[in-house]
Amino acid sequence: MKWVDEILQEIKQCDQIKDLESLRLRVFGKKGLLTNEFSNLKNISDGDKKQVAKALNDAKQSIESLLTAKKSELEELVLNQKIESQKIDVSLFNSTLLPTYGHPINITFDRIIDYFVGMDFSLKYGPLVEDDFHSFEALNLPRFHPARDMQDTFYFNDGMLLRPHTSPVQIRTMEEGRLPIRIISPGAVFRRDYDMTHSPMFHQVEGLVVDKNREVNFANLKCILEDFLTYMFGDIKIRFRSSFFPFTEPSAEVDISCIFCKGLGCRVCSNTGWLEVLGCGVVDDNVFQAVGLKNVSGYAFGLGVERFAMLSYGVNDLRSFFETDLRLLEQF
Ligand code: PHE
Repeated sequence: MKWVDEILQEIKQCDQIKDLESLRLRVFGKKGLLTNEFSNLKNISDGDKKQVAKALNDAKQSIESLLTAKKSELEELVLNQKIESQKIDVSLFNSTLLPTYGHPINITFDRIIDYFVGMDFSLKYGPLVEDDFHSFEALNLPRFHPARDMQDTFYFNDGMLLRPHTSPVQIRTMEEGRLPIRIISPGAVFRRDYDMTHSPMFHQVEGLVVDKNREVNFANLKCILEDFLTYMFGDIKIRFRSSFFPFTEPSAEVDISCIFCKGLGCRVCSNTGWLEVLGCGVVDDNVFQAVGLKNVSGYAFGLGVERFAMLSYGVNDLRSFFETDLRLLEQF
């Protein structure tokens, strides 16, 4: 049977599983070569039958075993190709392995916290979702007070709100009633603002010092803030400008000489030579009354962390801190 050798040859050369299947049908199908031979057996004389049948069975066996071997060989080939094509290239650029020392906002937080912890301040945290009393009422901003316009606040339907400043932590700390108080409170705050220098979520650090009698005064406040700003920005001039906050009296805003033009006047400082960096003041007596503290005195201050980071690193768009752009983050 010449065709048997031809078929065996074809199977050996076959390189596709589907071709292998048509070869199998060509031999074992209903009208397959071998099927035909077997049905022809009945026409063969009894003398030769046994020998032909043996030859057919041998052919059947060798074709079958070659088919099986070839099939698993081709299946393995397909599997290997698949594994090869899906292999992970571990040498690929991996952004999670970029060397950085942290986000510029965190770095700035750390520097600020380091300073005040060194000055014996404790860390205190408050809730981001606040109530009206702690955010405004107790801070001497009664309902309908026009000063509430200063903060365009995100309100929830149930009267709760996203805190627009860290000052509620002042109230929560004083409510605990333990003196002396010497805390800073870092954290996120929220206002309805979005432009080059405002983001709906940003960060503040609040400071509060309260002690009995009249022992804490504006001179203490001025002294520590001057030292702190020199620590943050180096050789700069500092001025306290009289201002207003409902929860402090007297109040001041603090300016530093522009670190970009050294006070000569430039675009960043709007040609004034000065940059405003924080708000502060002596705690208003109405605030002490709201929390039931008597015969005490204190000072408070609040600063924007993004503003400090922008000035420290010369970043001119505040929003870029929150865009997770690696080109910015890689630089830290
Ligand atoms: N809470 C004020 C603000 O967000 C900052 C401030 C804090 C001013 C404490 C005085 C004292 O603008």
